[in-house]
Amino acid sequence: MRLLVSMVIILSAVGCGNSNQHSGLPTSTNIENLMTTPVKDIHSNAEPGQAIMQHLKWNAEIDFDSMRILGKASIRISRDPKADILILDTKNLLIDSVKAGSETRETPVDFSLGKFDEILGSALEIDLPPDADWVHVYYQTGDGAEALQWLSPQQTAGKQHPFLFTQSQAILARTWIPLQDSPGIRFTYEASVKVPPELLVLMSAENPQQKNQQGIYQFKMEQPIPAYLMALAAGNITFQSLGSRSGVYAEPELIDSAAYEFAELEEMISIAEGLYGPYRWNRYDIIVLPPSFPFGGMENPMLTFATPTILAGDRSLTSLVAHELAHSWSGNLVTNATWEDFWLNEGFTVYFENRIMEALYDSEYSEMLALLSLQDLKAEVDEMTKNKQAGDTHLKLDLKNRNPDDGVTTIAYEKGYFFLRWLEERSGRALWDKFLIRYFDENAFQSMTTEHFLYYLKKNLIEKQHLNIYQDELDEWVYHSGLPESLPVPRSGKFERVDMDLDIWLNTGTFPSTDQWSTHEWLHFIRGLPNDLDHAAVISLDETFDLTGSGNAEILAAWFEKAIVYDYKPAYPAIAEFLKKVGRRKFLSPLYRALANTPEGKEFATEVYEEARPNYHFVSVNSIDEILDYE
Ligand code: BES
Ligand code: ZN
Repeated sequence: MRLLVSMVIILSAVGCGNSNQHSGLPTSTNIENLMTTPVKDIHSNAEPGQAIMQHLKWNAEIDFDSMRILGKASIRISRDPKADILILDTKNLLIDSVKAGSETRETPVDFSLGKFDEILGSALEIDLPPDADWVHVYYQTGDGAEALQWLSPQQTAGKQHPFLFTQSQAILARTWIPLQDSPGIRFTYEASVKVPPELLVLMSAENPQQKNQQGIYQFKMEQPIPAYLMALAAGNITFQSLGSRSGVYAEPELIDSAAYEFAELEEMISIAEGLYGPYRWNRYDIIVLPPSFPFGGMENPMLTFATPTILAGDRSLTSLVAHELAHSWSGNLVTNATWEDFWLNEGFTVYFENRIMEALYDSEYSEMLALLSLQDLKAEVDEMTKNKQAGDTHLKLDLKNRNPDDGVTTIAYEKGYFFLRWLEERSGRALWDKFLIRYFDENAFQSMTTEHFLYYLKKNLIEKQHLNIYQDELDEWVYHSGLPESLPVPRSGKFERVDMDLDIWLNTGTFPSTDQWSTHEWLHFIRGLPNDLDHAAVISLDETFDLTGSGNAEILAAWFEKAIVYDYKPAYPAIAEFLKKVGRRKFLSPLYRALANTPEGKEFATEVYEEARPNYHFVSVNSIDEILDYE
């Protein structure tokens, strides 16, 4: 009976047409179909059933003066012979002309841009002549192409050259390339890109390691990837090797500290392969971007994009690298089919990240990470429940008429992580790891819905190994709000000692000896500070440990959040400076939110924001505008 219920869920959720009407059970063929036919993606206008893109040949010139990309996107399609249009996603692109035919034969065809939608952009409908299997779109990017951030020399470390980077996830690839922008659609690509000769350009592909005089660079991505992994960065960038298949790119000013920080990278790659199977993307490089990069990291294949705020000088924030590396399996290899299945990307990746860190150091280390995750998760679940958004605490999301960015919360990451950790606990690590190796292998280069994952889990783990894991338990994790009673609780002796030290200080005024504390113990200590700490205590804390002067961005951000609650004025200049320099949304949102809690704080925040806003990427602007009611 349990199995039957789950099957019905699979079929109803994907709306599969040819199910067995009598029993509700899918036949093995239509489970196969689920794997090969993309499910309907509400965040794309594409109709992959008619014509689906298979390869992109991109020719582009990056024009820093006009802040535009001039491009030609040649797309090879596989089509239903009866289909007479190809639909691509676009947003604010200026389409000059469209041709169709073969790779080399280009005949002008009619096209039209559909009605503009604030979230989705406009469908580009291209008339397909009967024998055409290539289309060629000549276009330029428009004003405010949301994926792109054009930086003035002033916004870079070197201050001499401009910089451009993209951020395509979730649905911003369509703002710089016309394509089928859905995570269920994969294609290979090649590109030729021209930049001013003093700059180097890199993509999510096989990359150059040095500049050439022409400023023209060739790229190739031979593994099929979804559109959200299209990426580009251009600037005064140099390369340093870290090992046989890894290296780091950065502006020359940062390259040494970046190479120091990421020295464990080759070891991480080997550990990851030892856990869940071979690394399938040849090289793994990292580029350290200017501080306005809106995320900590972005798993662009072959070239992770990273914020410079993880360069702490002591390798204490490199779990972020483990995270982006882990996406080479969870996300880039097995990809969430739609943004409503986002937890499949991030929950798996947090789980895998944690396993890499456990193997690289020990479980004492990874349990600290897990506890910090749990704190974030509980806080967010409480907040969402209070704000009547309990639906958003489901792992499987409902994003109808919403921006997929609404789904980027700790639920996907940390509730997803704890679900998988719970599955590990209930299966035993040996069986669980064996299952995951097979999962990544059998589903490599394919997309995955939540429903198909649950089906696969039951078939290949629960039933096969006769495990006592029940449908209602799985349903609770995936389709119910809040946190299950069975939520695993990590333990950390180190954090328990920090808790005791904090108590002692609060009760006796004796400061702990913190010489041996890791960044994570500091974070736990700061998070544990009571909100009603008296002013004298705040001052003496900061005078003793100079938290306001910390060189570690995570510690700074955690401390500033408290400093705002305490209205601790000596920290405010440093807060303003931080907000103007750093564009990482994970830091900005909580700080602006904390400031916006009081009229005085909101005024300060708005003043800072006026100045900082032009330095932020669209995704951060979009969030902070809302927090500050900024128009
Ligand atoms: N893929 C995400 C970033 C992302 C998610 C961008 C959704 C746009 C939409 C990336 O892997 C990520 O999770 N970054 C985190 C890293 C952290 C969890 C270690 C970040 O940026 O903070
Ligand atoms: Zn991630």
